[in-house]
Amino acid sequence: MADRSQVIASTKSYLAQQSAMYGDLYAESWSPQAKSQTKGTTLDSLCQEKRDCTACELSAARTNVVFGIGPADAKVMCIGEAPGSEEDLDGKPFVGAAGQLLDKILAAIGFSRDEVYIANIVKCRPPGNRDPEPEEISECLPILNRQIEMINPVLILVLGKVAAQTLLAKDGSLNSMRGTSHAIHGVQAVVTYHPAALLRNSQFKRDTWQDVRSFRKLYDELVGDKPALDHS
Ligand code: URA
Ligand code: SF4
Ligand code: URA
Repeated sequence: MADRSQVIASTKSYLAQQSAMYGDLYAESWSPQAKSQTKGTTLDSLCQEKRDCTACELSAARTNVVFGIGPADAKVMCIGEAPGSEEDLDGKPFVGAAGQLLDKILAAIGFSRDEVYIANIVKCRPPGNRDPEPEEISECLPILNRQIEMINPVLILVLGKVAAQTLLAKDGSLNSMRGTSHAIHGVQAVVTYHPAALLRNSQFKRDTWQDVRSFRKLYDELVGDKPALDHS
């Protein structure tokens, strides 16, 4: 349990953060450009604020906090589980083999990596790539929740079981969460296999392809700013 002074300190810093965020948004809401710059600034300041985070055990062995990357006004967010060793060294999400596969999957449905915002459930690498523990997830999740709030995407692609169970607050199998869209903080979301799982089990590729096709279909319904895929 946090003691009272910790709670007060964290409430104060939360209030300061909120006033920094929303104060600016009100002041600059007349200009869409200023607004999106403000969004970027607040994401950046959250990133700065967390770069030395020691709120959970995962801080002990990490090299870098892997905050997330992409445009602050991205229409699509991709959410994975946790950084691996390459991400830990680089400080960026999905730069290793799973990330290269993610790039290909996105490209297959007409998205480039630089138009999506990519983040993970936990920002620091679990030693040996073990699953993050529930306490680590609950310490770290507020960061992701604020990223979702600030970016306010139109659609979220949820990668793998840990991310899906966390974001949908469900215990079920990954398979039981596929094939339908869900709402995460009011944002529509589609669940699919984690690209690292696809690297180990190529039999999941067909289902993943189905999932990402329906993701693209939903994107077309909600946004509709992309040319038709040439292999539909
Ligand atoms: N796997 C993830 O879930 N996230 C990364 O950033 C890299 C691999
Ligand atoms: Fe902080 Fe999240 Fe890293 Fe834990 S995993 S130390 S909560 S940034
Ligand atoms: N394209 C495919 O054919 N399969 C996948 O899993 C992803 C993209």
